[in-house]
Amino acid sequence: MQTIAFDKFNLMQDKDCQERIRAARAKLGKKAVLLCHHYQRADVYQHADLTGDSLKLSRLASQTDSEYIVFCGVHFMAEVADIMSAPTQTAILPDLAAGCSMADMANLAKVERCWRELDEVLGKAEALVTPVTYINSAADLKAFCGERGGIVCTSSNAGKIAQWAFAQREKILFFPDQHLGRWTGHNLGIAMDEMLVWDPDLEFGGLTPEQIRKAKILLWKGHCSVHQMFQLSHIKRFREQHPDGIVIAHPECNFDVCANSDYVGSTEHIVKTIKEAPANTRWLVGTELNLVDRLANEVKPEGKIVQFMAPTVCMCSTMQRIDPQHLAWTLENLAEGKVVNPIRVPAHEAALAKLALERMLAVS
Ligand code: 13P
Ligand code: SF4
Repeated sequence: MQTIAFDKFNLMQDKDCQERIRAARAKLGKKAVLLCHHYQRADVYQHADLTGDSLKLSRLASQTDSEYIVFCGVHFMAEVADIMSAPTQTAILPDLAAGCSMADMANLAKVERCWRELDEVLGKAEALVTPVTYINSAADLKAFCGERGGIVCTSSNAGKIAQWAFAQREKILFFPDQHLGRWTGHNLGIAMDEMLVWDPDLEFGGLTPEQIRKAKILLWKGHCSVHQMFQLSHIKRFREQHPDGIVIAHPECNFDVCANSDYVGSTEHIVKTIKEAPANTRWLVGTELNLVDRLANEVKPEGKIVQFMAPTVCMCSTMQRIDPQHLAWTLENLAEGKVVNPIRVPAHEAALAKLALERMLAVS
């Protein structure tokens, strides 16, 4: 039998998709597990078996024994699920267009050029620099780190990982998120003038040999298009209006936002902190809107008020692509024994990427 085409689902009403998702899941039983990131839209999130931040989801992917791991998140997360699961399991991304704009800000050709340029300035880069990639990156960049004694980090373990990286060598090349790298370095007591931005579109990152030799962390010039919307002015206005209010932000926010927040942490940390907070507290939250809206509704009965940091709507538009239509299409095909949108990292790349991911899991 042929794969059911997406066309049939494209114009389907949400309500009908929800019914078909439930019916397909009932048919599949434990054969399929649905992993959902916290940013996932409510009409998909309601079907999750397991939810979490990137670190938790990568662990869960390595622990499930379901044949199909349906990943409601973005492409790099489904790649991690493929790498960390058994060869008999299949990771699936319901819409292949669900990428991460930050992950796309670094690619292997540019990172390899950077490494060659570091070799030129430092002698052998590998003797002095530990490459650290944020989990928000393609599998080939994780493999690049695995092959060179480097490591992966997430927003919840970046501090420990950076300490580990400095224990290996005296410098870190951190990609692709400059903000997470800077915040992490700052928390380890590294001065701002020892953390320099590496612009991959310029020769030698736009730095002089002297600057490269002096730097402790080279910060790839990348950022998240959602988190860049949160600004210090939003925090100042909130504090003027609500002096007792509490501010919490994701470390992908810029330095000023992180430095002026009461708490900074991963999506899981944000959810946990607000859920465990005393009743009747007021929060300003600097992370993606789907998470903030869901959390606001969940804690409302305890008198907690949760406010989104920016005045404009900031959603992760790529994560948003996983909609009930794509999920229904994916699951209905699976229930018929047909796999659509499998994510398969080439074996050689997967083995090296796994090395870097396992180093991370051992450290965190
Ligand atoms: P977390 O690991 O905190 O869930 O962050 C992932 C992410 O992409 C945030 O933008
Ligand atoms: Fe990537 Fe930003 Fe979306 Fe996170 S919120 S998945 S970093 S684009």
